Amino acid sequence: MKNTLLCLMLLAFAGASSIVQAQAAKPAAPATAAIETKLAMCIGCHGIKGYQASFPEIHKVPMISGQSGKYIVAALNAYKKGERKHPTMRGIAASLSEQDMAEVAAYYEQHGKDAVALPEQAPAASTDVAALLTKGACDSCHGKNFSKPIDPTYPKIAGQHADFLFVALKAYKTEGNPQVGRGNAIMGGQVKQFSNAELKSIAHYLASLPSELHTVPQSKFR
Ligand code: HEC
Ligand code: HEC
Repeated sequence: MKNTLLCLMLLAFAGASSIVQAQAAKPAAPATAAIETKLAMCIGCHGIKGYQASFPEIHKVPMISGQSGKYIVAALNAYKKGERKHPTMRGIAASLSEQDMAEVAAYYEQHGKDAVALPEQAPAASTDVAALLTKGACDSCHGKNFSKPIDPTYPKIAGQHADFLFVALKAYKTEGNPQVGRGNAIMGGQVKQFSNAELKSIAHYLASLPSELHTVPQSKFR
């Protein structure tokens, strides 16, 4: 009995030490492996076509492939600092260093990029929506086709999912909720002049536009 126990203990010890050795013997990981680990985190939501989030209401997760890299970094920093309160994205952004963000953003900016040229000017909106867009001067920052913002830290919004755009627009209105809201002052001032019904029609129009944004389906790397 004693011997069997001792034997088991030795086996366990031998097993443990060989695991330690195996780990130590592994060659140093190539530089890109670290970023692939980070990207593997994103794929579970942003790499599945039509993937829906349920908080704060059911909507499709935003398309980030083809988005401007500088905007991706700005958005991730806004989650990290808590200026954007979405709990899951806050947790994810908190785990990313400046370097990780820059690499992930550079990856997504090029991801799924195709050579399709967008029209300079977005197809006309209905009279009602056109009046709302004029009131907000939306294209003065997001570009005449809503894909060429005047500053690369501003998002491309043409062709983004309508339900996500609506959730995002409402978030700029939400104050005093610990889990919902976006603190950006520019967009906060913008959306407060519109009713939710008006924001919804704007979102539907923007979503219908020719787009550089994609979801590139990926199950895993390699
Ligand atoms: C569990 C699902 C999930 C995972 C995993 C996830 N995201 Fe997100 N992501 C979301 C949702 C939902 C939103 C919308 C949040 C909001 O309303 O502000 C979002 C928003 C974003 C935005 C802002 C997009 C925009 O147009 O404003 C960026 C950028 C982003 N995610 C990047 C990433 C990156 C990079 C990773 C991996 C490191 C990642 N996400 C992992 C669900 C996820
Ligand atoms: C003065 C410049 C400016 C104007 C005008 C403006 N925006 Fe924005 N918009 C921004 C900036 C900057 C952001 C990024 C804010 C952030 O980091 O949360 C943004 C973000 C957004 C987003 C969030 C997109 C995403 O992927 O999360 C939407 C939707 C949007 N704007 C729609 C509009 C609409 C609709 C109008 C007109 C009613 C408008 N914007 C007018 C600068 C502007």
